[in-house]
Amino acid sequence: MQGKRILLGVTGGIAAYKSAELVRRLRERGADVQVVMTAAAREFVGPLTFQALSGRPVRTDLWDSAAESAMGHIELARWADAVLVAPATADFLARLAQGRADDLLATLCLASAAPIAVAPAMNRLMWANAATVANIERLRARGVQVLGPAEGAQACGEFGEGRMLEPTELAEQLDALLPAAGPLRGRRVLITAGPTRERIDPVRFISNRSSGKMGFAVAQAAREAGAEVVLVSGPVALPTPPGVRRVDVESAEAMYAAVEAEVNGTDIFISTAAVADYRPAHPSGQKIKKTSERLQLEMERTVDVLASVAARPNRPFVVGFAAETESVEHNARAKLLRKNLDMIAANEVSHTKGFDCEDNHLIVLWREARRDLGAGPKIALARELVQLIATSYAEARDVPGTVSA
Ligand code: CTP
Repeated sequence: MQGKRILLGVTGGIAAYKSAELVRRLRERGADVQVVMTAAAREFVGPLTFQALSGRPVRTDLWDSAAESAMGHIELARWADAVLVAPATADFLARLAQGRADDLLATLCLASAAPIAVAPAMNRLMWANAATVANIERLRARGVQVLGPAEGAQACGEFGEGRMLEPTELAEQLDALLPAAGPLRGRRVLITAGPTRERIDPVRFISNRSSGKMGFAVAQAAREAGAEVVLVSGPVALPTPPGVRRVDVESAEAMYAAVEAEVNGTDIFISTAAVADYRPAHPSGQKIKKTSERLQLEMERTVDVLASVAARPNRPFVVGFAAETESVEHNARAKLLRKNLDMIAANEVSHTKGFDCEDNHLIVLWREARRDLGAGPKIALARELVQLIATSYAEARDVPGTVSA
């Protein structure tokens, strides 16, 4: 976080007193912190506390002409490398979800292109309320990172989910959101992950056992290596890795459309998704009734997302995955050549291996080389794979015409 400019928004919850310590934790990591308080926050803690800890006058008012003439609110929004709102009250989350600009902090969030993170803090029933749940969903869909909340004793005497994360943890999580100085810094990486669902009728679908864990681990590793990461994900039950932009899709067709929409400007494409190869040719508009002893579904081929990216004229560096139940390396190498990939990561899958578990075993193949990464936790393998991709990508770029970027 050395030299990073953090705009810390403090809103009106009792957890505001912990934000004073948060300023210290951020500054210990080398960040420059500008605190912005809402009117309600000032009912809990005085601006002087934050001024003393941050070394900067606290901004509180959109209509403060003296502060505005020193640094206007648009300038301040541009100044930030990241915005963290901690604590974020239910009211502030609602205003942010609506895109309101009715005070300085909400306006800054609207005007900033920097990543925004919020650390919700509220009573457990307010957190569980359908209105808050919907607001959080909207914010997540827009790429806002939601840090916490934690479960525990609450200031109101109740026990449950809604406590703000501790300052040390918030500082750590925010650190992970900021672009790192890794080998993929300045590179845009597009990743597909998870299964797809192919509709049979309005209540049934065909899918597979992919959990998305390997793809999410690759997204996290690419982000840690400094890349801007877009993750196109099928239906999974996983949190988005910090700093990663996620696009949710259901079917192979929707995954293809999302990849087509995101692929321009992409330097590296990594296809970890277990995309359905076939889908019902004639999905029924109504629920299919059990009127006969047998039911035959006619299936048709889906589009091959990976092969379509690899066939683009100005294509990125393309990495595929091969999930095989036999002749792993032989089949994977055949896929590498057939789909015209730059690299392929192969793993053996069975009832007990590969799909929906924490560990994996990867063998990485590229044109003239092979590296067995061995067995291990998916995140460890993902980090090794990303290092290999970064090296191989850098070499390929030095050979004109190999990759576009
Ligand atoms: N893939 C894809 N779109 C599809 C099918 C597969 O993008 N419709 C990608 C996967 O994400 C993976 C790679 O292709 O990176 C390998 O997929 P796989 O289905 O195993 O390969 P196929 O060439 O379809 O071979 P087969 O199914 O016969 O093993």
